[in-house]
Amino acid sequence: MGDDILNRGLEGIRVAETRLSDIDGEAGELTIGGYSVDELARNATYEESVFLLFHDRLPSPDELDEFRADLAGQRTIGDEVRAVLRRAADEDKPAMDALRMGAAAANLGAGAEDPEADARRVIAVFPTIVATYWRYREGEAPVEPREDLRHAANYLYMLTGEEPDDPAVRGLETYLNTVVDHGLNASTFTARTVVSTESDVVSAATAAVGALKGPLHGGAPGPVLDMLRTVHERGDPEAFVREKLDAGERLMGFGHRVYRVRDPRAAVLSAAASEFYEDAGDTEFFESVKAFEDVAVDLLAEHKPDRRLDTNVEFYTAALLDGVGIPKELFTACFAVSRVGGWTAHALEQLGDNRLIRPLSTYVGDHDRSWTPVVER
Ligand code: COA
Repeated sequence: MGDDILNRGLEGIRVAETRLSDIDGEAGELTIGGYSVDELARNATYEESVFLLFHDRLPSPDELDEFRADLAGQRTIGDEVRAVLRRAADEDKPAMDALRMGAAAANLGAGAEDPEADARRVIAVFPTIVATYWRYREGEAPVEPREDLRHAANYLYMLTGEEPDDPAVRGLETYLNTVVDHGLNASTFTARTVVSTESDVVSAATAAVGALKGPLHGGAPGPVLDMLRTVHERGDPEAFVREKLDAGERLMGFGHRVYRVRDPRAAVLSAAASEFYEDAGDTEFFESVKAFEDVAVDLLAEHKPDRRLDTNVEFYTAALLDGVGIPKELFTACFAVSRVGGWTAHALEQLGDNRLIRPLSTYVGDHDRSWTPVVER
């Protein structure tokens, strides 16, 4: 065993330079492509966010039209992909399994010759895969994508078969912009590692779906929604939180590895959810969500005085996505529909200045064993 320091989980290790996003965990600030997450999320369309990540600047009107049209023209999937998604739905597989299989199958023919073209195709097709799977799950026929709708609007349209209204599109688009990139998280690192072997962007995105699926990453918005609904129906958030903490359980939607203050994405999504529920004239549920947050933050401070546990992105993701009509079974897949923009941008950045990612491990096994033939064991 050498003298090298062992860094489990690579904490504190920097392995790339990036222009894509910057997290200040102490100040609670997130910058994406040079803009604060708040500025980007409120103003951008999802297409503009992705263009920004790919080109480090906003598109001109003509460039935006071309970019939008290119994505919109590549949304369809073939019968063989539908067959895979139908099978996943029939077998009751989670949406993330369907997305992993669909992402691989839908990109037959993509290669490493034009990585940005591959990236655009992957981004274009993710919502179609998720929506098609969901329609099968619901026993409904898939809805063909529409080229005249923006990325976010078309996604909602394919899920429901109905043209969504503006508040729902705006709510979903704010979500997609807010979570599009977030430093070198596990799935993004996975994407960079895959292309660092000079593999291709489709493989990088497919592997990243696998990394995002795990509960330590893809997160807790489904359980958060269950919790919020229970508290809304039962009332008495204080009793609920005390019960959980006394039982030694963690409160979903609170705490973060990097942020020591409120996750800045929680603020953006809270404002978006507030606007959405007000527009819908249905503020009762959202009022109880906000009241729950206040109670929970105070009780968590009492519970862990040495460790600031504040609201994370998952808390208001649950309230917002539920409001705009995304079923909770699709929350993690919806995260992937956004984050694929970040994954592919990181893959392109890595390819632009590549160094094979190849860390070391510390061997803790035996040396010098002598072989025992099978009959003597
Ligand atoms: N509720 C109650 N206690 C919590 C907590 C929560 N949400 N998050 C952390 N803690 C406690 C831990 O139990 C631990 O206490 P201990 O020292 O007595 O064991 C202490 O705070 C430190 O926790 P630690 O596991 O070191 O934090 P982490 O940085 O590894 O974890 C999370 C970050 C997000 C995994 C963690 O906060 C969590 O599990 N949150 C709930 C799940 C969630 O919302 N996930 C989505 C994240 S975006």
